[in-house]
Amino acid sequence: MVAKDSIFALKPNGKSPPFAPKRKKKRDGKEILALLRNLGRISGDFDAAWVVDCLSSESKNIRLWSAKTLGKLESPEYLDILRQTARLDPSSEVRREAVSAIGRMRSPLAIGVLGEALKDEDPKIVCQAIRGLLVFKSDPRVRKSLVSLARHENEMVKEIIQKEYAAPSAAVPKQPHPASDDDLKNVVVLGDVLRVLEHVPEESFHLTFTSPPYYNARDYSVYSSYQAYLGFLEKVFQSVHQKTKEGRFLILNTSPVIVPRISRQHSSRRYPIPFDIHPLLVKMGWDFIDDIVWAKPESSVKNRNAGFLQHRKPLGYKPNPRTEYLMVYRKRTEKLIDWNIRQYDWRTIKDSKVADGYETSNVWEIDPTHDRVHSAVFPAALCRRVVEYYSYKGDLLFDPFGGSGTFGRTAKSLDRYFFLTEKNESYFDYMQSFLRKGLPFSERETRFLSLKEFAARKKGHGKT
Ligand SMILES: C[S@@+](CC[C@H](N)C(=O)[O-])C[C@H]1O[C@@H](n2cnc3c(N)ncnc32)[C@H](O)[C@@H]1O
Repeated sequence: MVAKDSIFALKPNGKSPPFAPKRKKKRDGKEILALLRNLGRISGDFDAAWVVDCLSSESKNIRLWSAKTLGKLESPEYLDILRQTARLDPSSEVRREAVSAIGRMRSPLAIGVLGEALKDEDPKIVCQAIRGLLVFKSDPRVRKSLVSLARHENEMVKEIIQKEYAAPSAAVPKQPHPASDDDLKNVVVLGDVLRVLEHVPEESFHLTFTSPPYYNARDYSVYSSYQAYLGFLEKVFQSVHQKTKEGRFLILNTSPVIVPRISRQHSSRRYPIPFDIHPLLVKMGWDFIDDIVWAKPESSVKNRNAGFLQHRKPLGYKPNPRTEYLMVYRKRTEKLIDWNIRQYDWRTIKDSKVADGYETSNVWEIDPTHDRVHSAVFPAALCRRVVEYYSYKGDLLFDPFGGSGTFGRTAKSLDRYFFLTEKNESYFDYMQSFLRKGLPFSERETRFLSLKEFAARKKGHGKT
């Protein structure tokens, strides 16, 4: 532990630090590091000569904390020595700290040095240098060297430059961000989602949450091949992307599926749907945000362990899959989430506030729900979290694979609007039995439409 008075002695007016270089030897590395770490705020009259010396210490941590300490002084007096560190220190952490310290000077004298750091092999250092240079964003020299980074290898570097220097998009949204078309609110359409979406205007939905068909593992969908299945999902999420408002979310519930073997002479086949769909989503303009794991009790899932339990032969191990993913994506935009939040009035923000006791981790322990009519329904508790954490009251929420309509019902019960599509007539009828009645809190009746009726609807009657 470092004594408080030795730190105090180093601080303002500490013209004679307790250890000048000649006394430094007496102090060991640990003590120096503790001093540096505990300095806290320091001001311009701090005598930093000994800190400069420490920049050549053998200890990486001492060099790191020395660069940090010099950064606090924000003085171009240390530009040359920090430049040496930024160029030559073997540790990229220390080089980055030196570049940060140079940036903190906010001095035009630092422009050249920060420009050199743009050539560092570590993209984090390049980003740090960009940060320092952006203080002089409109200086023609700075502009030129930053714009040239638009072709940089690293994606984060490219993104920052794109955001700072690209012309703002000229497209003006057709309606305020929180609003949506009345003729899409609380509507269920019977039909193939791709056909239905042809009649939905761009930038309509605030959130999409869905569980697509499980390739050929259940009886309600048949695809000629796994490639055909992925191609279909690609088209659906491409279209959902167009119909999603700027910066809003898509949450996809999937898991690998097993298509059972045809006989004992063959093996079953496992399809890694989440991993195969992910690159397609990113390529079409969805930014990956989070992976949430929906964990079910092991007793509720199919037991694959019976054989292994008997023979215990390695390689024959088969864990019981009791998890599914909720893959969270955001429609790519340069705008921060704060921008999305700022589009709502204070009352909506207040009314939509997530209550205490919310789930803080990415493992959501929720029991599955079994339904007598539909074999793969969402538990309402799962939908509830998605609605509450990823939308505001009054938003329009979409499920392209509506099934029994759990997501729509939950959205409605939480004062959001929903739009669902479902191609199977018996599930469409089943939804009506839930949705038509018993939900008095919404002023807007649920409408069940055929594709033809939906396509022919009168548009534009009042938007809220
Ligand atoms: C996994 S289930 C969704 C269940 C739903 N999450 C629930 O809570 O009831 C997938 C649903 O997508 C429907 N479906 C499959 N292909 C479709 C398509 N091309 N267009 C619309 N719905 C489709 C199936 O009939 C099935 O009901």
